[in-house]
Amino acid sequence: MNAVQINNPKFNDLAQVIARYRGTPGPLIEVLHRAQGIFGYLPPMVEQFVADRLQVPLSTVHGVVTFYHAFRTEPQGKHVIHVCLGTACHVNGAERVVQMLHEELGVDIGGTTTDGLFTVTAVRCVGACGLAPVMMIDDEVYGKLDRKRIRDALAIYRK
Ligand code: FES
Repeated sequence: MNAVQINNPKFNDLAQVIARYRGTPGPLIEVLHRAQGIFGYLPPMVEQFVADRLQVPLSTVHGVVTFYHAFRTEPQGKHVIHVCLGTACHVNGAERVVQMLHEELGVDIGGTTTDGLFTVTAVRCVGACGLAPVMMIDDEVYGKLDRKRIRDALAIYRK
């Protein structure tokens, strides 16, 4: 471990995870999931640590991280907004929702607000088509979205 890693107890946690998986077949994806659970995302230093400890090329680790959508290379906001772009939401104004979120938060899909409070992502149908257009903030569904409903929803998390 380098000095930064030694001073970060999360790397000790990750080292213990890797020690448990070492010797099992194909542990890379599972280890990366666990690493993301510990760090919240997978910065280059974590990729390097995993590569070193599992003795696989860094290019292999990075290839897996960038291939799967489940892995994040940037930190997420405290709350994640999932804007539904499924068919029912699309025909009921999902693009307007994206635009209004941009105006309210200053970020597009994939972005995180500068205060770290919100990350905006896109999903395909959250199973609430009757409420289209819909977004989720964390696990909460917000439907029939217009400017006021979006502002009211965001205000709950800004408190
Ligand atoms: S399409 Fe948006 S909830 Fe189903």
